[in-house]
Amino acid sequence: MSAAGEARRSLSAPAIRARKRRGGASPLVMVTAYDEPSARLVDEAGVDIILVGDSVANVVLGHSDTLHVSVEEIAHHVRAVAAAKPRAHIVGDLPWMSYHVDRAETVRNAATMVRAGAQSVKLEGGHNRIDAVRAIIDAEIPVMGHLGLTPQSVLAMGGFKVQGKTRAAAKMLVEDAVALEAAGVFAIVIEGVPPEVGQWVTDALEVPTIGIGAGPSTDGQVLVFHDMLGLSARTPPKFVRVYADMGPQITEAIARYADDVRSGAFPGPAEVYETPSELRD
Ligand code: KIV
Repeated sequence: MSAAGEARRSLSAPAIRARKRRGGASPLVMVTAYDEPSARLVDEAGVDIILVGDSVANVVLGHSDTLHVSVEEIAHHVRAVAAAKPRAHIVGDLPWMSYHVDRAETVRNAATMVRAGAQSVKLEGGHNRIDAVRAIIDAEIPVMGHLGLTPQSVLAMGGFKVQGKTRAAAKMLVEDAVALEAAGVFAIVIEGVPPEVGQWVTDALEVPTIGIGAGPSTDGQVLVFHDMLGLSARTPPKFVRVYADMGPQITEAIARYADDVRSGAFPGPAEVYETPSELRD
């Protein structure tokens, strides 16, 4: 394979599993995307992993939480992301209630993500989800875990609250992470915890951690596309860095288009087809 071909090769789940920073690997870069253009743009930026997250519910579909999105809806977005044929590894997020009921349904839902174009799936929870993790892995589908502030638990948590704030809670998170690793996950997202907890979980594992609001010591970081680009209606959480405030730029561009249409300045001579000679006289 040529050097260029090598550079474009997709990262497999085992290759991600090997990306532990203490082994000298560079941090994993994950970002969400939900459609072909966003997948193409983030892939061109060189990210390692594209997460088709259930955050699509918040940032694309206008819901106030992630509980109102189905397997079919996320699979639809996975298909659009896969159409970009990204080099980055595609993770399909399993939504709430898609892995909570029974083993067969859980495996079928994970397979729906794979058939839509995902190379692995992500699910939330620790000890309480070990059976689901094992069932999916038994069907040869790699699983990424997700611990800490797990948005699908918003009702049980009483809001989107930082987790692991006591020694006992932090210890439980570490135990959950170790249990997920023993069940075979290839990486774990750790969200919304004090940085020390991010570090303890990371240090306790052989698989990489990918942090979001979990401090600088995790083996990688993930951000939501619309949050980091200023495209989200929601106030971004404290841990988000807005790398470009695209929302106002888009509004300004569309407003200029509207002005041009209303004033007759659009379309101009450069934006119309040439008149065939037969139509000229
Ligand atoms: O759905 C999502 O975007 C996520 C990230 C916040 C990790 O799960």
